[in-house]
Amino acid sequence: MKEFKKNTWFYPLAVAIIGTYNEDGSANAMNAAWVSIYDYNTVILNLAKHRTTLNLIRDKALTISFATKKTIAQSDYVGIVSGDNVPDKVKKAGLTEVKAPNVNAPLFKEYPLTLECTVRSVDDDYHVIADIVAIQADESILTDGKIDPKKLEAVSFDPVNHKYLLLSGEVVADAFKIGQTLNK
Ligand SMILES: Cc1cc2nc3c(=O)[nH]c(=O)nc-3n(C[C@H](O)[C@H](O)[C@H](O)COP(=O)(O)O)c2cc1C
Repeated sequence: MKEFKKNTWFYPLAVAIIGTYNEDGSANAMNAAWVSIYDYNTVILNLAKHRTTLNLIRDKALTISFATKKTIAQSDYVGIVSGDNVPDKVKKAGLTEVKAPNVNAPLFKEYPLTLECTVRSVDDDYHVIADIVAIQADESILTDGKIDPKKLEAVSFDPVNHKYLLLSGEVVADAFKIGQTLNK
């Protein structure tokens, strides 16, 4: 075993694309890896004080899309450029925004899976708790009406090597079942 000093390492980390509206009604997007489930139908986002953060505090709404193999350049771009400096960031990223059906935030056509969320609370350190109110999935990632990870081709952020890793959808075992082989 090798011991490392403490660090914000976790496998797997998401590559979440946060969609919000700017004050002038235009759309913004940012990349966030420190996003996870907080409770049933509720997510937590660890944010700094970005334009996105101020947007979602004001509108109490956001979308969370999952970065995919096909959208990887766009996804990285919205994580290295701020809407503060590049007002047409979404356009430059090549993203097509439409209003989310259920919340006051944009979703982007290029991302096939999006959570529509409302903001429950934001603390002084910009830990955002948000409730999932609906999930939008493109038909192209469905098999028999269910989300198919093989078609989704979601990616994960590797916080040690700073790489995006493909979640290929290869099945290793059946959850809640494989353990039964040891339950004797
Ligand atoms: C891989 C990656 C992961 C990131 N994760 C986070 C995160 O979890 N929280 C955060 O506040 N910023 C994170 N960022 C930084 C923001 O995406 C970045 O500062 C962005 O420019 C903010 O956009 P905005 O100013 O237009 O809102 C991440 C960036 C990258 C490239």
